[in-house]
Amino acid sequence: MALRLYTPAPVIEEQGEDFFVAPHPRPLSAPPGILGMILGSRHSLIGGWMDESYESGLTTFKVLTREVVLVNTPEHIKYVMVTRHQNFERKSPQMRRALEVLLGDGLFISEGETWKSRRPLVADIVHKNRVPAFGRTMKDVTVAFAQGWENYRADEEFELTSAMAELTAEIISRTIFGHDLGTEAARQVIDGFATYQKSVDNFNLGYWLGSDEGWPILHGPVKKRAVAMVHGVVEGVINAHLAGAGEEGSMIDLLVKRRQKSPELGLDVTALRNEAATLFMAGHETTATTLTWAFYLLARAPWIEKAMLEEIAQICGDRDPTIDDVEQLELCRAVIQETLRLYPPVPLLPRQAREADKVGDFEVKKGGMVMIAPWLIQRARDLWDDPNHFKPQRFMNGARINTFAYIPFAVGPRVCAGLNFGLSEAILCLAILVRRFKVKVRPGYRAEPVCRLTLRALDGVPVTVSRRAESAATP
Ligand code: HEM
Repeated sequence: MALRLYTPAPVIEEQGEDFFVAPHPRPLSAPPGILGMILGSRHSLIGGWMDESYESGLTTFKVLTREVVLVNTPEHIKYVMVTRHQNFERKSPQMRRALEVLLGDGLFISEGETWKSRRPLVADIVHKNRVPAFGRTMKDVTVAFAQGWENYRADEEFELTSAMAELTAEIISRTIFGHDLGTEAARQVIDGFATYQKSVDNFNLGYWLGSDEGWPILHGPVKKRAVAMVHGVVEGVINAHLAGAGEEGSMIDLLVKRRQKSPELGLDVTALRNEAATLFMAGHETTATTLTWAFYLLARAPWIEKAMLEEIAQICGDRDPTIDDVEQLELCRAVIQETLRLYPPVPLLPRQAREADKVGDFEVKKGGMVMIAPWLIQRARDLWDDPNHFKPQRFMNGARINTFAYIPFAVGPRVCAGLNFGLSEAILCLAILVRRFKVKVRPGYRAEPVCRLTLRALDGVPVTVSRRAESAATP
């Protein structure tokens, strides 16, 4: 019999007539020890928290030679992310090292002057005022995607996370590159990113052994090929735009125009490529996992799904929802907000201190790490009623939500640049697909949430889909 060195915490999930306790790992009752911590973090970065971490507070824990301050109160999250933003703007060495080959100095991992000068540029490209224009692409791509679901037999099972990643990758690819990008080139970019992401490891031993910058990562031929493929396609599109071709209104078009308007920014082709690659990476997996969890939750809470269908029918009648409806789809929005509370796609936000600092009573050394965890603060039992229950209504009827206790898009100057894009996209895709299809999760299947690059179900989510009868507002 194989020796098991590590057993993940069991998953708790509970379903009743009118309540659903969403799946989550049982909190630990005793500290895991060093081997448990290392093996546990390889399995998932959200499984190893003690019971007391699920209430607000400040605490520290040690990983090899490093002490990490867990910042888990709204007040101190504000201190780190807003008040002392400049001291804590640096992402963790593991994140920087893991992504630098693909994204270069792209916004997600840049810092200092580069971040400061590029942030307004990228934020402008995905600004909420532009969402209506991109919304047409979101809808068209989702409707075309839905045609594919028509072909499934009602008993034909498939994996939902990959299906949602296909949908959101197509949306972001079309909004960044425009519709002129051929299918083959689009496939190369999507596959290149998928290959790269699979190989990303979120543990950099070098940092934990004392190197402030972490150790450089060795990249094998498969990863190098994936990077070359992505860079090649993106540079090709940029060069076409610089030569006066390419689709107007795409994100690359906007980046190139901005370069022409603001030469002082010194944006060369590599800088443009890095920002386009960043938008692609930051902008699709997050939305894909959000949609997957939303379908999982709805499948287990049919009374919410029924109310959603009624809302969609009331606002949209017999047609597909569009981006202009999103504002009025209050319950659909609340379902996405509650999904993001229970399953924040980026569940941990580590930050490295530029200089020594003090958070509450805890000293943080220069180069030390503070950890902000949307996963924990959004389930803190002293801040949320029934923290593990799926209750979208907590976001409705003008509910007041504490900005620093609900941070799925982070908070402060480094808040997600694509917040409005991502939120609208998730609401719209969910509303279009839910209206057309009943999505059933395999009976008896229990998803185990794990944190890899994003928060996903360990073995995916096996589902079947069936077309709803025309205008049937029944789950
Ligand atoms: C549900 C969808 C999304 C979620 C939950 C999400 C979440 C986040 C979070 C938590 C961060 C900060 C990460 C950190 O501080 O370590 C971030 C950053 C970022 N996101 Fe999103 N995101 C989503 C969708 C998008 C989309 C659709 C785009 C672009 C179209 C986008 C572009 C970005 C960019 C460029 C950054 C870096 C911002 C900076 O550092 O200044 N995101 N996102």
